Amino acid sequence: MNEKLLNATAVAMVAPGKGLLAADESTGTIGKRFDSIKVENVEANRQTYRDMLFNTPGFEQHTSGVILFEETLFQKGLDGTPFSKLLESKGVIPGIKVDKGVKPLFGGAPEETITEGLDGLAERLAKYREAGARFAKWRAVITIGNGAPSHSAIHTNAHALARYAALCQDAGIVPIVEPEVLMDGDNTAQKNEDVTTWILKEVFQELYFQNVLLEGIVLKPNMIVSGKKCPTQAGHAEVAERTLRVLKRCVPSAVPGIAFLSGGQSDIDATAHLDAMNKAGNLPWNLTFSYGRALQAAALKAWGGTNVEAGKKAHLHRAKMNGLAALGKWDA
Ligand code: 13P
Repeated sequence: MNEKLLNATAVAMVAPGKGLLAADESTGTIGKRFDSIKVENVEANRQTYRDMLFNTPGFEQHTSGVILFEETLFQKGLDGTPFSKLLESKGVIPGIKVDKGVKPLFGGAPEETITEGLDGLAERLAKYREAGARFAKWRAVITIGNGAPSHSAIHTNAHALARYAALCQDAGIVPIVEPEVLMDGDNTAQKNEDVTTWILKEVFQELYFQNVLLEGIVLKPNMIVSGKKCPTQAGHAEVAERTLRVLKRCVPSAVPGIAFLSGGQSDIDATAHLDAMNKAGNLPWNLTFSYGRALQAAALKAWGGTNVEAGKKAHLHRAKMNGLAALGKWDA
């Protein structure tokens, strides 16, 4: 394992004032996003949309890397340049989502899932590295409510995340370790705090058991928010305080950086929460963003299938605001 290289890549992914663009929606998920603007989910439209995102002038000043879906890693932009080369030419690191999505878990609570994709992963990672990917992503999903989370869901998902992380590092690829506690339920922020603490404790235990180099990962957690259907909603300061408390209790300082998912928060909330945490300062890791929806929702709407310039403008604006939040310098 090339420890220096892994660490250098992880450090670059969380460079001050920069974060990750999660543009790794599976074909099914991008279909849902396109439905909202009445754009047909065909390869040509996916290519055009992502070409717009990656050709946004100046986005590279706020973007350290982009998480791609497999189709995009092997796809060319509209001018014939492979997307991975286009990103590299702007100093943006290409990465790839490598999990195969969630499947029913069985043996846990009724609606729980396990993330699949470990079989054949070593071979796939070698292929992805050759195509330019320098980091990868694997998302585990933890739900709250209706008996969840069960010990089985926490344990099996943490184990799979660590298996994936060890395989990535062996292939010279930095793993983004993403245990996402969903925010869809009616639970309180306190419940989210308890569950996130549990899954993070378990994840770091499994990473240790499986000899994963902490200096060569990026953690991608949820923030500690109230469930969307909870009648009382934690404000920005409370979310920041709870999230920092959990991270300080669970994440060793050897980890170079933490890049949050947005998970369905509004664009402004996602920026405000990140900014509030960075304003608190004096943290052992860099805190930044790895947003999908909170970076793309405005761009998608402004583009609407045809308006490339408006889409680029909206993308750049959110990238810039989140870049400021990653420094604790955003002003509402
Ligand atoms: P959201 O920011 O939309 O949650 O997406 C981030 C991501 O990559 C989820 O896996």
